[in-house]
This record gives sequence, C-alpha cells and structure tokens, in this order.
Amino acid sequence: MFGEPHLLRNRSWDWHSKKARRMAESDSMATTGGHGETGEGESRRDFIQIVTGVFGAVGVGAVAWPFIDQMNPAADTLALASIEVDLSAVEEGQAIKVKWRGKPVFIRHRTKAEIEAAEAAPADELIDPEKDSDRVQKPQWLILVGVCTHLGCIPLGTGASETRGDFNGWFCPCHGSHYDTSGRIRKGPAPENLEVPQYTFLDDNVVRIG
Ligand code: FES
Repeated sequence: MFGEPHLLRNRSWDWHSKKARRMAESDSMATTGGHGETGEGESRRDFIQIVTGVFGAVGVGAVAWPFIDQMNPAADTLALASIEVDLSAVEEGQAIKVKWRGKPVFIRHRTKAEIEAAEAAPADELIDPEKDSDRVQKPQWLILVGVCTHLGCIPLGTGASETRGDFNGWFCPCHGSHYDTSGRIRKGPAPENLEVPQYTFLDDNVVRIG
C-alpha cells in the first residue's frame, strides 16, 4: 500500500547519519539568521499559519506545537519528539510547512503533473541520482526536511506565492539552488537532495514524522 516503507526508513536513517554534521551546521545557521529565510520571527509566523492542520506529540498525547513551544520542553525531549500531521485539509497542489525537531518539514500534496515530472527525470541529469519512487511512500505525498543541503537555508516554494525555481519544486535564494518536484537538487551549488525524514502513515490522512 505504501510501496516499501521499510526501505525508505532504512534509507532515511542511513542518510541521517551521513548528514548529521551538515544538519547540525544548518541548525547553527538558522539560529544566527545567517542566510535567507532563517529569521526566527518569520519562520515562527509561517509555522503558526498552518498549525490548524497539525498535531504535535511529545511522548504520550497530542497537543498543538505552539503549546509545546510555550512549555519550552528540554532540548533532549524535543530531540526525541515525533509529530503527527493531519493532511486531510491539504489540497492537491498545496504544500505546508511543519516544525519537527527544530527544523522545517515540507509536505507537498503533489499533482499528477508533478508526480509525472518527478518520475520522468533522466537519471543522468541528476546531481544526486535517486528515483522518485525511493523518496515517497505514497506518490501524492512528498515529505522533506526543508533545509538546503548547501549551507542550510530554508528554500522557498512551500507558500503559494513563493518562487519554486526552474524545476517547479523549491528554490534556495541564498546561492541559487533549484530542487525539483521530488526535492532533488537539479541546479546550483547544493550537493545533495533534500532529506526525506523517517515517517509512517497512521491512516490515509495522518502521518507521523519521526
Ligand atoms: S544555502 Fe541554499 S544555495 Fe546555499
């Protein structure tokens, strides 16, 4: 039903290990606001705008993430947290941004055309070759860690009015990296595709990330 989720999970953890240092660097840059859309105020507004569709969970029980934010849980608690996101309100062609382990996660409800473009990308044109089918559990749902693999900016393209770059996915304006509708790097200095986090669909509309 979900393709081969165990493969995706294993791949995600491998990837996570491979890029642990990079993501740590990304966190540092986001905190200092050194690049692009990493200003804390702006990011927080973005997250709050989509909170009605998100359940945050730390340990047992589900609460909205602003409540978690106000409670200011210990850093080690956040590091272990998973979130559950209700996708039922995300229409085809829309994307949302949620916060997970201190990082943005992009969730796009892909259109048929976006799926076809992702699947049709020639392997020899990919900077970081990877099949679209290895990056999604359900073709219509693309879930990515929203941190540019170059130097850690948050790429544009999730908001309806944001530019999506030359490949109709995401665009990182910091140094000009273009990602496609599978979140793969297609042009610019970023060396790797946007990371696919570990996630599990709990039912047709709810996904647990982490
Ligand atoms: S940080 Fe994204 S292109 Fe440099």
